[in-house]
Amino acid sequence: MPLESQKIVMPSADKRWRMVDNAMRKHGYRPDALIESLHAVQELFGFLDDVSLRFVATALKLPMSKVYGVATFYHFFTLKPKGQHTCVVCMGTACYIKGAQNILDRIEKDHGVKPGETTADNKLSVLTARCIGSCGLAPAVVLDGTMIGKVTPDQMAEKICGCVKQ
Ligand code: FES
Repeated sequence: MPLESQKIVMPSADKRWRMVDNAMRKHGYRPDALIESLHAVQELFGFLDDVSLRFVATALKLPMSKVYGVATFYHFFTLKPKGQHTCVVCMGTACYIKGAQNILDRIEKDHGVKPGETTADNKLSVLTARCIGSCGLAPAVVLDGTMIGKVTPDQMAEKICGCVKQ
């Protein structure tokens, strides 16, 4: 059951969420506190995941695409798991309807990895998100911090191949 603290809803009773909340409060929940807030999560939890990113996005009133973008762009943030390149496929309703599963299937066919996995050569991690706030661009994917909208499995396969070759 989520706990209510002022207007912020904690993801669970884990006391570390309150500490993250304190860090955000110190910055007045300003959107420009994003990097500091993600640092607080990482220090306390060791990595960033969908739950923590969503928590920070809601508290700072930022779109999930922005939060995922920052979390995947800076090398000092660790998404779990972490390959050299990170591909986050949105599996929210809009993206699901527009064929996000086909993108995941294609990635699995090409690279042999399912969501939550990293390739054996550590080149590519694949994650899913529930909604990254860009439903108008469904299906949406964030590849190494760059949001890619209205993408087909073929286009995505090409983009991923381009970046894992580097
Ligand atoms: S459902 Fe994918 S961006 Fe909203």
